[in-house]
Amino acid sequence: MAKFKTMFYCTECGNETPKWLGRCPACGAWNTVIERPAAAENRKRGASAYSSEPLRRPRPLPEVEAADELRFHTGMDELDRVLGGGAVKGSLVLVGGAPGIGKSTLMLQICDNLCRFAKVLYVSGEESERQIKLRAQRLGITGPDLYLYSETSLEDIITAVEEQHPDILIVDSIQTIYNTASTSSPGSVAQVKECTMSLMQLAKGMGVTVFVVGHINKEGSLAGPKVLEHIVDCVLHFEGDEHSSYRILRAAKNRFGATNEIGVFEMGDKGLSEVPNPSEALLSGRPKDSPGSCVTCVMEGVRPVLAELQALVTPSAYGNSRRSSNGFDYNRAMMLNAVLEKRGGLTLSNCDFYVNVIGGLTVNEPAADLALIVALASSFRDKPVPYDLAAIGEVGLTGELRAVHALSQRLSEVRRLGFTKCLVPARGSGRLFAPEGLSLIRIGNIREAVAILV
Ligand code: TYD
Ligand code: MG
Repeated sequence: MAKFKTMFYCTECGNETPKWLGRCPACGAWNTVIERPAAAENRKRGASAYSSEPLRRPRPLPEVEAADELRFHTGMDELDRVLGGGAVKGSLVLVGGAPGIGKSTLMLQICDNLCRFAKVLYVSGEESERQIKLRAQRLGITGPDLYLYSETSLEDIITAVEEQHPDILIVDSIQTIYNTASTSSPGSVAQVKECTMSLMQLAKGMGVTVFVVGHINKEGSLAGPKVLEHIVDCVLHFEGDEHSSYRILRAAKNRFGATNEIGVFEMGDKGLSEVPNPSEALLSGRPKDSPGSCVTCVMEGVRPVLAELQALVTPSAYGNSRRSSNGFDYNRAMMLNAVLEKRGGLTLSNCDFYVNVIGGLTVNEPAADLALIVALASSFRDKPVPYDLAAIGEVGLTGELRAVHALSQRLSEVRRLGFTKCLVPARGSGRLFAPEGLSLIRIGNIREAVAILV
């Protein structure tokens, strides 16, 4: 039987269908389904997707010559760390984030360092050259080898790259770039995908390092970086709370390094500055003698970071309780609330509760469980947690405390920030030596943790 082939696709969302339809079933747009050009059939046998050289065959691993991967520093240690030790030559990095988070600012700031040793082309489809110049002036950037180009046509951008031969290309943002050869509208998934593919070919073919900025909406989808993640080499998410000045850069995918690193920045009137000591920054302004706040230590990659968890437990009005969680997984917070009620003996079912992690940090590690239990109990009982006490441990459904990994590293960070006591799970910490000046309170279940609050 002949192999079935999809011959139609939607120019708006890229959805493929076996037959023509008046309305795309995926995105609901009318008259956007067109027949796929038969170009794929004519591709020369053996030609690779990234180069036009013919006759490529599978080769045994030892015969493949591996040139050393060339890395360069972007001038921002926090960014280099997330990239796995600097940007790789010829790679394509996608920087995604909500509008207004500071992506353009970050890109312009790294240009400042990059243009000292490399030729940088900054293409913006959103701002005019004058606007970029004004921003650069405000940020104190005066690179001689920084070229600005305000353009949205992909063909013109590629021509500019071929003429100028930059070492680094920055495209801000991919949603504004369009390929005139394609019929779909700028910003549609099909366009965004096609343009990214072309830039990827440019990166691999010419050895240009490309940074692409992409907007994502609150749900993280819609013609945004989500559809591009499998195409590009590295996906960085720039996150942060709109009400806080801290910004966190996180790697969601990295073909040249680990993905569990974060970089922390602070947005000020001179642009983004690096925060090499996030624990200190995140704990600044912590209230003294206020119930409902507890500090824990989470691992962000190989780096321990202290986080302040806050809980507010109040009696519910009109019998139906409201629960919300910000920065902490909602379902896990509900589970810990139930464990605290059933195993900790606190009657929380008639209460509203609100959970918050300070500084826009997202805590998604079980090691933060115990701190949330302590914060909830502290707010419920209206008893403050001792100011010099931190809590680390995973909580199970029977209220037992479970061991966490990298405990000694976390304890060193806790001690470094001036804490003198720390709640830790009794299991797995028996032979552990605490750093000098830090006394460990080994507990087996959450009842013992709640008993600390007297
Ligand atoms: P921007 O980089 O334009 O965001 P994006 O490209 O992600 O949409 O940054 C926009 C915000 O950053 C804007 O609301 C103002 C703020 N900002 C500062 O606070 N200080 C500065 O020096 C700059 C350049 C921007
Ligand atoms: Mg921008």
